[in-house]
Amino acid sequence: MALLEWKQEYSVGNASIDHEHQHMIQQINSLYEQLAEPVDADDVEAVLGEIHADISAHFALEERLMRKADYVEYELHKEDHEDLLDQIHDLMDSFFEDPEAGQKLLKAQLSDWFGRHFASFDARLHQQLG
Ligand SMILES: [Fe+2]
Ligand SMILES: [Fe+2]
Repeated sequence: MALLEWKQEYSVGNASIDHEHQHMIQQINSLYEQLAEPVDADDVEAVLGEIHADISAHFALEERLMRKADYVEYELHKEDHEDLLDQIHDLMDSFFEDPEAGQKLLKAQLSDWFGRHFASFDARLHQQLG
């Protein structure tokens, strides 16, 4: 089963943002599936690097929109983005020390984090900004 499932309640009412969120879910799911079997550490590093880059670009776009609109929840929303990026860094470190622990961390942290962030911070943001 996939680690993360897209749910209608994650929709923020903006088709291109929903599409980017779905893409992030797919990337995380395919990494998770890949980790079910023994993998080469270099491959995992490359995939995690790609995920990190795509998510950073998505967050930077949202943060630009928020600054332009003088969005009142900007600081809190940005902090939540930074937390996720930190978690991805922790995952990268833990994979290289211990791939099994890294996989557990992925399962424990990222699935909840994504659902919560989309359904709360991003939903509020896009209700206001479109
Ligand atoms: Fe966000
Ligand atoms: Fe987002």
